[in-house]
Amino acid sequence: MQSITIRRPDDWHLHLRDGAMLEGVIADTSRTFARAIIMPNLVPPVVTTTDAKAYRERILKALPLGHRFQPLMTLYLTEHTSPDDVEEGARSGLITAVKLYPAGATTNSHGGVRDMEKAMPVLERMAEIGLPLCVHGEVTTPDVDIFDREAVFIDTVLDPLRKRLPELKVTMEHVTTADGIDYIKAAKSNLAGSITTHHLIINRNAILVGGIRPHYYCLPVAKRENHRLALRTAAVSGDARFFLGTDSAPHVDPLKECACGCAGIYTSINTMSCLAHVFEQEGALDRLEAFASLNGPAWYGLPPNEERITLSRQAEPVVFPARIETGAGPVTVFDPMFPLHWQVMQRAQAF
Ligand code: NCD
Ligand code: ZN
Repeated sequence: MQSITIRRPDDWHLHLRDGAMLEGVIADTSRTFARAIIMPNLVPPVVTTTDAKAYRERILKALPLGHRFQPLMTLYLTEHTSPDDVEEGARSGLITAVKLYPAGATTNSHGGVRDMEKAMPVLERMAEIGLPLCVHGEVTTPDVDIFDREAVFIDTVLDPLRKRLPELKVTMEHVTTADGIDYIKAAKSNLAGSITTHHLIINRNAILVGGIRPHYYCLPVAKRENHRLALRTAAVSGDARFFLGTDSAPHVDPLKECACGCAGIYTSINTMSCLAHVFEQEGALDRLEAFASLNGPAWYGLPPNEERITLSRQAEPVVFPARIETGAGPVTVFDPMFPLHWQVMQRAQAF
């Protein structure tokens, strides 16, 4: 196949940041994607509907002229979140989901939830009104090995929560393990998972072999090869419970290339090229649309996009910049470590 036309994709997990960084990165998403779920882990985080409204306005203001893009806003769940505020945000159409970060799990998550009991009133309200919970599924207990944090989270936090509140719709974000995939597949309802571009491509060797490579470090951290293979099988299967959430998470290079580098990989600019490569390798290009453009909207109860994009296979590798320059500083672009041949033909086509 030399060319494939699919509905315009959406990104169901994206970090756009704020200020100069937001201005520097947004076009890499809005050029290709119609919508994205926007992560609320700013400093300070987006905790109230009022915060989300103001952040949404800043995002729309940063959009390049002529780009059509809809930011889907989330609230950062704290132990003090008000169920009424969440409900109001959801009913007004502003809030698409609430995000649970276990305290200390990742970048800017110190204000996250320590005691799940304290979050129960909000979670109960969300279950009542059908508002999804997006979950960063890692425990933060220091005695749990970082490579086991997702599996332990499923057993000790997620499964008990889902048994207690079976009506709550949960998105397990950026699934990185076979355990996560199996858990989602075994669920009868109300559970789905997003998968990032980079976790389909790298395993933990990318971070650690031949020297420490900070631009492959993200959270949840990439796992062993058998886990990567399980993610690929799930992503290309067409199973409606799995969809794209890039978790593209820009940090300026000086904050990645230092003694205590930040977690996050920047993939917005080349995600669709990387995914087409992965799906082609798996003989599943015909299922790329399900993963990137259909399963996510179906899960979030939204219509798929009417516009189409065309990806076309180039004889010569498509060259992406090694880094982009933003007003906040340079951001290194994810290098999949193989040449990319698929290119998004730039203009989105209305159907
Ligand atoms: C994210 C970030 O930088 O905000 N980092 C990452 O490695 N994915 C936070 C997150 O989603 O865990
Ligand atoms: Zn993220």
